[in-house]
Amino acid sequence: MKRIAVFTSGGDSPGMNACIRAVVRTAVYHGIEVYGIMRGYSGMIKGEFVKLDSASVANTIQKGGTILKSARSQKFQTKEGRQEAFDQLVNHGIDGLVAIGGNGTFTGATIFEQEFGIPTVGAPGTIDNDLYGTDYTIGYDTAVNTALEAIDKIRDTADSHDRCFFVEVMGRDSGYIAIPCAIGGGAEIVMIPETQMSTEAVIETLHSSWKRSKSSFLVVVAEGDEEGNAHGVAQQVKAAIPQLDTRVTIIGHIQRGGAPSAADRMLASQIGIACVEGLMNGMRNVMAGIVDRKLVYTPFTDTINKKKMINQSFMRMVEILSV
Ligand code: F6P
Repeated sequence: MKRIAVFTSGGDSPGMNACIRAVVRTAVYHGIEVYGIMRGYSGMIKGEFVKLDSASVANTIQKGGTILKSARSQKFQTKEGRQEAFDQLVNHGIDGLVAIGGNGTFTGATIFEQEFGIPTVGAPGTIDNDLYGTDYTIGYDTAVNTALEAIDKIRDTADSHDRCFFVEVMGRDSGYIAIPCAIGGGAEIVMIPETQMSTEAVIETLHSSWKRSKSSFLVVVAEGDEEGNAHGVAQQVKAAIPQLDTRVTIIGHIQRGGAPSAADRMLASQIGIACVEGLMNGMRNVMAGIVDRKLVYTPFTDTINKKKMINQSFMRMVEILSV
């Protein structure tokens, strides 16, 4: 490995900059040249390469977003687009890639390696924490804390007005953000894609709490829940229990920004180093992650195809603690 490139792809997440910084500085430490590719696969196709050195990443560890910007590229999904990307890598003399992103990013990298033989080591960068092969993804801890801060504020007003709030948090296919928000935010109910919780069951729980003279309620809904979004669930609940004063809050993209937490800076730094050293040791098509506090490299095929299971006892915790 003489020259590598790093890029961020898919939804951004707090800690991506800390990871880029670790990649750059590890490369410099080992005497490897490093380029940044702007806007993920889209910039790779267009040749948006910038030479990075230690100073390029100074004062970035604490910043949210990604200094390399991010994108979701349609063109990279075509053979023609990948050929153009490969030509750019050859022109810039790149021997290996560090891809910071989620499953979409790693799917692209896998196909790319099969077609053109460019080795990639991945860093799990997504707030969703839905990647097999790491206990936590970069940005997850910060996103949960951001959502929880908002939920605490919502509880204040819910309590003042005796209202029932339906709070939607991010998580396209997973309830990893919703679960700690519900437990840490003192919610009555949590709705996540990994478990079947019907709206009828939500209505029943709220109704019995109402009869036990609870006056304010919090229902946390993961955006990917099979029953639909928070607005849809709230509407059905209101129709069934008209005496409930309902409101909906979508926390949204605020969860994706902000300074990374200490945990995310640590994780991003560890993984950034592991990505470069993985490439140096001949690894390819693997994601660096931390499982049970140990560094592990998981094949992209597993991160893409295997599901990281949610601990079902968390659902029971919500039920017990909201009694
Ligand atoms: O994957 C991260 C994520 O924030 C998901 O939780 C969410 O469904 C999606 O990205 C939103 O994507 P976009 O920013 O493109 O709307």
